[in-house]
Amino acid sequence: TRVDKGGHKHFMAKEIAEQPTVIGNALANYLTAEGQIALPGPGVDFNDIDRLTLVACGTAYYACLTAKYWFEQIARIPVEVDVASEFRYREPPIPDRTLALFVSQSGETADTLAALRYCKGKAARILSVVNVPESSIARESDLALPIHAGIEVGVASTKAFTCQLTVLLMLTLKAASDRGRLSADQLADHVSALRGLPALMSVALEQNLAMQNTARRLSEARDVLFLGRGLMYPLALEGALKLKEISYIHAEAYASGELKHGPIALIDKHVPVVMMAPRDTLFDKSVSNMQEVMARKGKVVLISDAKGLAEAGEGVWASIEMPPVHNAVAPILYALPAQLLAYHTAVAKGTDVDQPRNLAKSVTVE
Ligand code: G6P
Repeated sequence: TRVDKGGHKHFMAKEIAEQPTVIGNALANYLTAEGQIALPGPGVDFNDIDRLTLVACGTAYYACLTAKYWFEQIARIPVEVDVASEFRYREPPIPDRTLALFVSQSGETADTLAALRYCKGKAARILSVVNVPESSIARESDLALPIHAGIEVGVASTKAFTCQLTVLLMLTLKAASDRGRLSADQLADHVSALRGLPALMSVALEQNLAMQNTARRLSEARDVLFLGRGLMYPLALEGALKLKEISYIHAEAYASGELKHGPIALIDKHVPVVMMAPRDTLFDKSVSNMQEVMARKGKVVLISDAKGLAEAGEGVWASIEMPPVHNAVAPILYALPAQLLAYHTAVAKGTDVDQPRNLAKSVTVE
């Protein structure tokens, strides 16, 4: 299949803009008219497992890290998450009643495939979340869940990431209801939040100009720090990864609570700090971390909703407004500003957005 840029300057811009549509597709493929979650083929018996092992590389690994919060908080299933290259050589014990889940856009990443084969050898049940249904990882799984993102060309993953998250959240909801951890009302509440996502994403994409302006200023920085708590922590990691991959600016992410344990030593008036902070139960804690940064003259880029910005936006270097959103789906929405900041920063720097140096779309050798 041939794909073109559809009038966009880069594939990455096109793939970012496609997200409301592809997330809509992913939802349509898993949600029934009655608001239930339907898995393809044999499905999964979630009452038959005691723990989950999630393994992936790169951006897909951050999708797994996000899913750990969901599976543990919503479905109350203990989760282990690891990068495939560490997992496979550590040769961890795989207890009975473990479900091993592999996330991969391409379905061909060598380390992820090797980790899958390792788990298969230990008789674990194998599930995968993939974008390419005919890939090796999909074929070697007991059940492969397609993410329906369509072909992704940009080396830096964008729409595949949000589609992975969407499928992983639906899988969590299925697990939680099957295990009696989610009432019908709670399920309906989450499903309606998911259904509302494409429209919220379109609203978020309208912030393009604000992101472009912020990115122009970010492009002058030598180092950028990303902070987040809870579900925003894996997303901070993904934001830092995106920025370094395509703009070559050194970027690191920390769980906000770790600020005091090291990164605060780096803060001065030259360091922008991107704070991902929807107005959730951890918001006040994020605000106090932000104030610690500002007291050391760090330049805060606050990404929050209108209420959050009104409450805590005073004195920040830049702010980006997101529509208010259900707590559980927030990382899917907040992925957009993370992607757009990286994209516009790279464009401002004039780097090769779609084909960043030294990186490959699919890493099929070790
Ligand atoms: C490469 C790509 C990343 C991707 C990672 C994992 O590093 O540049 O965008 O996240 O591989 O790839 P996968 O196809 O397994 O998701």
